[in-house]
Amino acid sequence: MASSDSNSNSNSNSMLRLEGKVAIITGAASGIGEATARLFAAHGATVVIADVQDQLGEAVAASIGLHKSSYKHCDVTDEKQVEETVDYTVGKYGRLDIMHGNAGILGPIEGVMDMDLTQLDRTLAVHVRGTAASIKHAARAMRASGTRGSIICTASVAARQGNLGPAAYTTAKHAVIGLMRSAVSDLGAHGIRINCISPYGVATPLACSFSGKAPEEVEDDFYETAVLKGVVLKGGHVAQAALFLASDASEYISGHDLVIDGGVTVVLRE
Ligand SMILES: NC(=O)c1ccc[n+]([C@@H]2O[C@H](COP(=O)([O-])OP(=O)(O)OC[C@H]3O[C@@H](n4cnc5c(N)ncnc54)[C@H](O)[C@@H]3O)[C@@H](O)[C@H]2O)c1
Repeated sequence: MASSDSNSNSNSNSMLRLEGKVAIITGAASGIGEATARLFAAHGATVVIADVQDQLGEAVAASIGLHKSSYKHCDVTDEKQVEETVDYTVGKYGRLDIMHGNAGILGPIEGVMDMDLTQLDRTLAVHVRGTAASIKHAARAMRASGTRGSIICTASVAARQGNLGPAAYTTAKHAVIGLMRSAVSDLGAHGIRINCISPYGVATPLACSFSGKAPEEVEDDFYETAVLKGVVLKGGHVAQAALFLASDASEYISGHDLVIDGGVTVVLRE
């Protein structure tokens, strides 16, 4: 299935540019976060790639260009590492405008009745604790400098209804939406916006780990169950949504969950 590359005309609209802005993207060594790091940098942002996959993260930063990107090891389940990543960014680049809390794992795939609760804890730690730490420390830095920043959290279509992901993952992603909504008022008082993006299936390592199939097969499977035909959802499409929410084009948008699903969550499915 052929697909248009949504990054190809990424510089055409000057409203969407991130010139002079500094961003942290967690989970940017791979998949959606990597695509977003590349798009943000193409739009003029300086991007800190925060991840636990050091080799991959270093390689992504190097390929973007070390004059506008760097890698920082950051396990988002460890609040101290998140705080250090924010401090590193402000120390190195002088400001923080955008925090994209995007790191994620699939977690256990069993239903609730067979769920290993230790694995549930781990899934919640990455998605919920990690997102909370990212919001907390980014917002504190933005407040301290008076920056009207933008915080973006990656949720999922699995945050909108059941059965679009494993139980633990679905639980964690619902909580990400709750965190975002809970933060809107606190952050808004300081001119800081916060929103979520909720993609449908993209054939990343996370998504492929569910079935163990090759990315092409997983992409075909997602296409089969998609509502919108003629286009395959790629990381670049999700990155475009994040770019909009990161940029001044969305200056009055806060508390929103921007779904990138071609209509899947508004259609009754069997
Ligand atoms: N791929 C999809 O179909 C899909 C759909 C909806 C939402 N999402 C969400 O998108 C986000 C990105 O996932 P992806 O699909 O690009 O997968 P991915 O596996 O390509 O990327 C996830 C990244 O998160 C990093 N990560 C995992 N645990 C971490 C931790 N504790 N600290 C820091 N980094 C950590 C990984 O190393 C990896 O680089 C996730 O939050 C995921 O839940 C994905």
